[in-house]
Amino acid sequence: MIIAQITDTHIRREGDLAYGKVDTAGFLARAVAHLNALPIRPSVALVTGDICDFGLPEEYALAKSLLDELAMPYFIVPGNHDRPDALRRAFDDHAYIPDDDFICYVVDTFPVRLIGLDSTEAGEAGGMVCDRRRRWLANELNKELNKPTLLFMHHPPFHTGIRHMDVQNCRGGDELGALMAAHPQVQMVLCGHVHRDISVLWHGTMASIAPSPAHAVSLDFDPDGAPAFHMEPPACRLVYLSEEGRLVAHLSYIGEHDGPHPFFDETGGYLS
Ligand SMILES: [Fe+2]
Repeated sequence: MIIAQITDTHIRREGDLAYGKVDTAGFLARAVAHLNALPIRPSVALVTGDICDFGLPEEYALAKSLLDELAMPYFIVPGNHDRPDALRRAFDDHAYIPDDDFICYVVDTFPVRLIGLDSTEAGEAGGMVCDRRRRWLANELNKELNKPTLLFMHHPPFHTGIRHMDVQNCRGGDELGALMAAHPQVQMVLCGHVHRDISVLWHGTMASIAPSPAHAVSLDFDPDGAPAFHMEPPACRLVYLSEEGRLVAHLSYIGEHDGPHPFFDETGGYLS
């Protein structure tokens, strides 16, 4: 089984470039085409927030029309750029979205148990997992202790070294981490928000951030570094469930790349 992650698509209104520069809709369309064209297609895609840039209904209409082109089912959690009312209206056919303040849910129809966790805080760029959401998660985790489990959320509950993003990460991370430590079936935590490939051993599980298919937050370890972005190679996360039942994280680069080229000739000889 392969699980795809798309994150931080930041869709604007048709024809509107993000920051005057980035055709985010074009990048998402190419990401969707990329996933659909993979020789072994992912069984499911996880969309980890900041689906739209300003949370406008027109943005969601465009985002939904692009995501609906995915050839596999997809599941969304919100990011800080999303607006819950407009998001819920646009995705009203996504029956898994609960009628609750928070978009938290479990998908248990695959060999990997997928848990979507809403890390947003109304009106805040930063996120948090409050007591209520943590209790909900603890309850869900206790229902199935042995199945490989993957948690996906927008805000990373760990620091990355990119200061202007770290100050708006997910508060309550230590308490959430204690849950991970108590539940080793959670093999992986997939996040967004920082638009870069980042991974860390976090409370006994592997936590990671995926790049955006569009713009990357600039890699800048200067604590006084200004918020900025680079146009780096667009990519998405692919998680492979191995025969041993381990979740293995890959990056898949979107676009045309030279290859495949053989290592061996037709007689089995190593090509010089
Ligand atoms: Fe974002």
